[in-house]
Amino acid sequence: TLRTFARRGLTALAVACLPLITGGWLTGPQSTFDTKGPVAKAQLDVFYVTLWVTGIIFVLVAGILTYATLKFKARNDADEHAPVPPQGHGNPLIELGLIALSVIALVFIAIPTLHHIWYTYDVPEEEKATAYEVNAIGYQWWFKFEYPRELVADAPLTLANELVIPAGRAVRVNLRTFDVIHSFWVPKLAGKVDMMPNRANHLWLKADEPGYFWGQCAEYCGESHAVMRFRVIALNEADFAAWVAHQKLPGKPVTTENAKIQFASYKPLENKRNAPGWSEKFDADPFKAWTAQQLPEVGSAELELVNKGKAIFTAKTCNSCHAVRGDQPAAGNPIVPDLTHVGSRTTIAGGLLENTPENLHRWLTDPNGVKPGNKMYRGFTGGMNGYAKVDHDTNTVTGHNITVNDDEAR
Ligand code: CUA
Repeated sequence: TLRTFARRGLTALAVACLPLITGGWLTGPQSTFDTKGPVAKAQLDVFYVTLWVTGIIFVLVAGILTYATLKFKARNDADEHAPVPPQGHGNPLIELGLIALSVIALVFIAIPTLHHIWYTYDVPEEEKATAYEVNAIGYQWWFKFEYPRELVADAPLTLANELVIPAGRAVRVNLRTFDVIHSFWVPKLAGKVDMMPNRANHLWLKADEPGYFWGQCAEYCGESHAVMRFRVIALNEADFAAWVAHQKLPGKPVTTENAKIQFASYKPLENKRNAPGWSEKFDADPFKAWTAQQLPEVGSAELELVNKGKAIFTAKTCNSCHAVRGDQPAAGNPIVPDLTHVGSRTTIAGGLLENTPENLHRWLTDPNGVKPGNKMYRGFTGGMNGYAKVDHDTNTVTGHNITVNDDEAR
């Protein structure tokens, strides 16, 4: 009946509008409509061209169909037995016209599409001189970012789950995978391009302003695909230089002097919180936590903490897989995250958790609860079947060669 039809129609409309009501659709942290760089902007432009062309066709076709349905439908029993009207079999003029219109519509979409495919493929010629270049490598389930070799003499500078870039500069990202197919996607900046086994893909991106931008693996890659995330952090030139300087330092501040240099190098970032383009809701809080973490005055108490952490790191053989550049040179299994300056990262566990002491504790004591199926949980000591055991009563985890309890993890 008409009433059922209307009710269903309204329900469908309400469901379709849900993303609009929640607002995530247009302004959320992974919105492709809220572009912050030229590549994402170009991709959005193509989307709008396609949307308009197909939208106009949809309105035309649906309009004619609705008109014909209402105008020519049988209105009563008498109509149903009326003689069948004359049946036409094709009209060459209309058919040719429709073919021509379809071709025009496709060409209209194809021209900007092809233009933008070339544009988004690689850094534009005029920006190549100032472009930055990094490697991004997908793993189940995290992203590794490798910086140019010349930055650090003894070992490559690599980050997990965070891609720090200079704002306002083109960045070429070489895309590789360690295992299965992943896809690199930063909705507000660029993507999606797959990271394929045995294939060298790349893309480029540019953040117009300093800021945080969420990234996400966009190709189903196993149990924890949905939580394979990362963050792009764009800094202005001065802050980026300070960040690089900080990253070049050895991983652990072993002297008060060294520690002071490390903490001081973050000071220029303190005001970033108030910079334009930082959304209160999504950006301010983690940054606040981050700067608070970076800026304490360094005293003997902090040094003692650092040394305690270092002792645990060694005692629990974290260093048998995880490298800390300059401090744990023997380690550095390339298939696990390098933990140099891990405290300076905003997130842990594949970009899933904010980097707070509570979350680190949660991650270490129940890695499988945080990110199902990950290798931190499986460990390699007993082969791939060496599952760790979590005892929730005592809050300890054994296996993976480690036992962590409350006190130590904090
Ligand atoms: Cu990696 Cu989905």
